[in-house]
Parts: sequence; C-alpha cells; structure tokens
Amino acid sequence: MAGIALVGIQWGDEGKGKITDLLCEKVDVVVRYQGGNNAGHTVVVGEERYALHLLPTGILYEHCTPVIGPGVVVNPRVLIEEMDALSERGLSTERLRLSGNAHLIMPYHLELDMVTERRLGKNRLGTTKRGIGPAYADKAARIGLRAQDLLDPKIFSEKLEIALKEKNLLLTRVYGRLPLEHQDIVEEYLAYGTRLAPHIVDTNSLVQGALDSGRSVLFEGAQATMLDLDHGTYPFVTSSNPIAGGACAGAGVGPRDITRIIGISKAYCTRVGSGPFPSEADPADGEILVEAGGEYGTTTGRKRRCGWFDAVAARYACRLNTLTELVITKLDVLSAFEKIKVCVAYEFEGDRYEDFPPNQTIFNKCRPVYEEFAGWSEDITGARDLDDLPKEARAFLEGIEAMVSTTISHASVGPEREQILKVHEAGA
Ligand code: GDP
Ligand code: IMO
Ligand code: MG
Repeated sequence: MAGIALVGIQWGDEGKGKITDLLCEKVDVVVRYQGGNNAGHTVVVGEERYALHLLPTGILYEHCTPVIGPGVVVNPRVLIEEMDALSERGLSTERLRLSGNAHLIMPYHLELDMVTERRLGKNRLGTTKRGIGPAYADKAARIGLRAQDLLDPKIFSEKLEIALKEKNLLLTRVYGRLPLEHQDIVEEYLAYGTRLAPHIVDTNSLVQGALDSGRSVLFEGAQATMLDLDHGTYPFVTSSNPIAGGACAGAGVGPRDITRIIGISKAYCTRVGSGPFPSEADPADGEILVEAGGEYGTTTGRKRRCGWFDAVAARYACRLNTLTELVITKLDVLSAFEKIKVCVAYEFEGDRYEDFPPNQTIFNKCRPVYEEFAGWSEDITGARDLDDLPKEARAFLEGIEAMVSTTISHASVGPEREQILKVHEAGA
C-alpha cells in the first residue's frame, strides 16, 4: 500500500503539475481531492504542453486511473470540454472516474462569484470567477447538487427547484440580475449527465480497493497551503482544504493510508489575487521574476505577484502538512539575480516573529526580515545532478533546508520533464 500526497506549500502555482507528472510514471491511481477548475496545472512533455484544470494529471498516462474525488466541485460543462480537448489531441479519457458525491458548480454559482466580487469592490478576493466559493457554500448549506443527481432527472429537477428559488431571489432582488430558468438548466445538465454517466462511480471503494491491493495512489493537491480555507490567509483563500489532511476527507481515505507527503515550493514565491504577501518583491525585482519565471496564471492569464521565498510561511506549511520531503521548483529562475533574498522572520511593532503569527493583523502589517544569499548568475537549466549546480545554488538549497527542517529531495531547473535533479534521499 502506498498513498502519496502532493501539496503546494505557498499560494499555488508551485509547479505541482510538473512534479505530479513525474510521479505518475510510477503510480496506478491519481486523485484530485479538492478545488475545481480554479486550478491550472501545467505539464510539458517534449513539444506538448498541457494545462489541466479539472482532470487529474494521471489522465496523460494510459496505465493510470484518474479520479475526481468527492471533495472536488465540478463544472460538468468544463469537464466535458477538457475531456474533448484531450481526445482531440489523441488521448483517451475513458478511464476517468468521477465521484457521485462530488458537488456540481451550477450556472448561478458562476453568476454569484462574479457579482459578489463586483460588490466587494476594492476589498474583492480576486477569485478565479469559476464559481468555487458559492458551490462550496451551498455544499455546506446542504442545498448543493451532486454528480449522482445528474443520473436521476426527478431528483435533479426537485433539488434544483429548491436551490433556484433562493438563488433567483438573490440574483434579482439583491444584485439586479435576470432570473435563471429552471427548465433551461435541467435540460443542459441532464445532457451532461448522459455524457458523464459512464464515468460516475463510487470512487471511495475504487481508491480504497487500490490501496488494499497494494497499488499506489497519488493524491494530487490543487491550490496550496496558504490558500487553505482553515489554515491559510483567510479571507484571501480558496474555499477548500488543499493541505495534506484534506486529502483524507476529499478522497475518502484514512490518515494511515498516506505514507509519503511531498510539498512543492518555488525557489521564490508568487501569489495571484488579493491578500497579504509579506515577502512581495519591490517592483523592479518583481518584474524580473515575472519575466524570468513566466509568471502569468495558467487559468486566468493574470500576472502573478512575485516575491522572495518566505521561510516563515514555509516552516508553518511543512509542519501543517507533515511533509516527508520538499521539492524546490524554478531554481533556474533565480539565475537572474546577483543577490537572492529569503524572508527569515517577520517584524511587527518591535517584535520579531520566526513562527507564523497567530493574528492576521500581524501578518497583514509585518515587515519581512531578509537574509541574503549569493547568486550564481549562470544558466543551470542543463543541470541534472547536484554536482552540476554552482556552489552558490547548493548553498541556497542547504540554507532553505535548514530553515524549514525538511529534506529537499529534488530541485527543478526548468519546465520540461527531465529538467530535475536529486538533492537528498527523502527521509534522510
Ligand atoms: P501548478 O498550479 O502548481 O501546477 O503550477 P502552474 O502550472 O500553474 O505554474 C508553474 C509554471 O512553471 C508552469 O508554467 C510550469 O511549466 C513552470 N515550471 C515548473 N517547474 C519549473 C522549473 O523548474 N523552472 C521553470 N522555469 N519553470 C517551471
Ligand atoms: P493551482 O492549483 C493560484 C486563488 C485565486 C484567489 C483565491 C480564491 O493552479 O495552484 P477561488 O477562485 O478559488 O475562489 O479564488 O485563490 N487561487 C489560486 N491561485 N493557483 C491556484 O491553483 C489557485 N486557485 C485559486 O487567485 O486569490
Ligand atoms: Mg497553477
């Protein structure tokens, strides 16, 4: 039995797609356990580039069963479009399994995501506008519709009627929008149901069965620790639990099913959307990181905010996820700097915080305390072994490893599959 969880430890876009892809070669089942199509996971294979939003990365491998677990919120239109796009590129999506318990993103969720952001004005969260928050809100309020409802027209219609009554009042009376038609949604969604029916199963028993028979299962986290609804920088978070602990609830397994937990972090840090970001770089350095790192969102195309590696937040995330190893990506991007900063503590009203502060006011207003590392300036994209790296790059990795007390197993030096090198034996 081998359950492996892979999680982002920053604010997303750490390169989870690339590392998941590498692991897929050796796993049998890949499960998405939270989030929805707010995710954008990039996989580069030779000339081919895939941007996966809802489909687990295992979809790219014929030997893998890709699973969308009960903790995911699914926009069926987007799912079908993504499946069709891969089919057009010659990949089979037949193996996809979708949990009947996964909640559906409905047309009113998309509208509500848009109008609530508009109403918040300068206080907006900067969501991906994919309806994620409103869908999870309905799940918690117990008025959500689930994938299995698509298979029962009567139930679907009844549940929709209950939900839509309230949503239409909200949309028309509070936001001045037009009401949505019950019949239109029924027709649209039942057609999706017909298409998705062969994929909708009890994924819990599938995943548990795989583990019980000794096959390996990879739990592919989307978003990241600092965007976690309970443990991130609330309210500037997403509405699910991307942390490793979330994999149990979101995929239907127990804590003892996961034995290896891999955290992914960039060698620097980025964030899309609003919210505090203590180690955000000054505009000049930020621009260099944007350009050198190609820091534009995979899902929304937005320019990512860029900053330096935040060791305080990383320490917090390593502990919270009980990482067994850390993978550092985009080390190659730091070749653009003579000096590299790392945020080692926060300062607020004369106090120094080396641990993640318990109060959001401190995190919002703190100043970063930086330690500087010497840069290396040479191109490292061809490095395949730790010894191929300049000594300054090795010192940087060692410095980070000591700060977060977690073994760095690999460093990635480019977007391509083979652009990776082993740093230390995990668990060493
Ligand atoms: P994810 O959401 O965590 O899967 O990350 P994204 O795919 O949204 O963003 C990561 C971006 O960095 C993608 O464009 C990747 O192709 C790219 N990438 C991944 N690893 C590396 C690396 O080591 N170096 C460079 N230069 N790019 C990388
Ligand atoms: P991957 O899996 C980066 C951010 C949004 C916004 C906040 C809430 O590619 O790392 P939401 O639409 O989820 O309600 O938006 O979360 N966000 C991400 N940022 N990477 C992601 O996914 C993200 N998914 C959501 O920008 O700040
Ligand atoms: Mg992404």
